[in-house]
Amino acid sequence: MLVLAIETSCDETAAAVVRDGRSILSSVVSSQVAIHAEYGGVVPEIASRKHLEMITPVVRQALDEADVSLAEIEGIAVTRGPGLLGALLVGVSMAKSLSLACTIPLVGVHHIEGHLLAGFLEQPVVFPFLGLVVSGGHTHLYRVDGIGRYRILGRTIDDAVGEAYDKSATLLGLAYPGGALIDRLAQSGNPLAVKLPRPLLHDGTLNFSFSGLKTAVLTHLKKQPALPQGQELHDFCASFQAAVCEVLVKKTVAALQQEGLTRLVVGGGVACNSGLRASLQKMSDQRGVELHLAPSKLCGDNAAMLAVAGDAYLSAGCQDDLAMDATATWPLDQVARWEQLP
Ligand code: KG4
Ligand code: ZN
Repeated sequence: MLVLAIETSCDETAAAVVRDGRSILSSVVSSQVAIHAEYGGVVPEIASRKHLEMITPVVRQALDEADVSLAEIEGIAVTRGPGLLGALLVGVSMAKSLSLACTIPLVGVHHIEGHLLAGFLEQPVVFPFLGLVVSGGHTHLYRVDGIGRYRILGRTIDDAVGEAYDKSATLLGLAYPGGALIDRLAQSGNPLAVKLPRPLLHDGTLNFSFSGLKTAVLTHLKKQPALPQGQELHDFCASFQAAVCEVLVKKTVAALQQEGLTRLVVGGGVACNSGLRASLQKMSDQRGVELHLAPSKLCGDNAAMLAVAGDAYLSAGCQDDLAMDATATWPLDQVARWEQLP
């Protein structure tokens, strides 16, 4: 099946053409990062307007690069939620219009489902597995027993990990979004230089909390006469990264143990992080865990990742009609599509 996938949940306008939920024929991502950087965060109204401007050229480019026409597209998968409502509406409206005009079956896919299954575009993964999704909006641990079969085990109770990276970067005087920049600076820093908390590490749950870490960064910086520069900045970033990685890896180990799982899949923008990738690899080597890290190009928001679940649902005859609407808040374990799958 040839699926056209569309993603507009936050600040990336993306479209992709994917064959059989496996081979990426094209994946176009138009990022608004430079526009929102000026404001130090995503401005929802601006995001919606930019999506409106970009959605048609991005879809057209995805079809052109894949060298297919709309007439050849057999299914459309679109991010239905969660995300910024105005932003989601642009993608959902485009998907519904194309579905109606060209009589193509349509399915709404959960954004986190996309991140969880992104790695399937590189190699098949066997169920069940533990899924860790780490991004600007999400920090979630799921037990995944099949496509459409997700059970939440833990989540952030406040800031998402990417949000903590970006807010801490701003406090350090770095440009938005600073996650990747902190990562780069951390690579030549001393992770033991600054003592930072490991929130909720021993609370006995699989939940995360990152707002306290961000406050600890602020408190530390307030005590200093000036923002760290040079090696001191590298050391601070390395210490921050060590705190984040320790919590993420230890909670992941606890979740694997609780569920009796030995397979781990990691996705989302923060899954690009070099420290996290190395720590998860080391833990997996030590414990005999089968680790599937989404390739860097599929970690951040993109449309191709939606085609994995989209293809499975559409192939099973599971579709949405034109009454489907964008949903800003949509818990993944309420998607419950698996009952309709074979
Ligand atoms: O998945 P994504 O593109 O969008 C959301 O669904 O949120 O993730 C974006 C987040 C941002 O917070 C960005 O700073 C963070 O991922 N990020 C990183 C790295 N690359 C991107 N955080 C830490 N280290 C990185 N290398
Ligand atoms: Zn995302």
